[in-house]
Amino acid sequence: MAFVVTENCIRCRYTDCVEVCPVDCFHAGPNFLVIDPDECIDCTLCEPECPAEAIFPEDDVPQGQEHFIPLNAELSRVWPVLSVREEPPADATEWDGKPDKLKFLER
Ligand code: SF4
Ligand code: F3S
Repeated sequence: MAFVVTENCIRCRYTDCVEVCPVDCFHAGPNFLVIDPDECIDCTLCEPECPAEAIFPEDDVPQGQEHFIPLNAELSRVWPVLSVREEPPADATEWDGKPDKLKFLER
């Protein structure tokens, strides 16, 4: 099992999660982060750190967001590792909780 970043990260991208990961398995794109499922050791540390509550254990991903499981695996092979927090987008709080954000995902 691994932890998975889900839809509410898109355009929020707070990056608090990367600071606590002991194995640097977060990979960052322009407005979303993913977890490499092959590197995640299920330590659970990142889940409570996300202000957008976007991180879930694979077995607990909300209904309708299961497609984020293969998406994390796919994009973690393409995007670089991020292990130091970055400033979130200026409008991050406005996007927190908005539905249907997948269409805004930038690759
Ligand atoms: Fe990293 Fe632990 Fe979160 Fe997995 S559960 S992504 S190892 S902080
Ligand atoms: Fe995204 Fe939450 Fe990390 S919004 S960047 S998963 S802290």
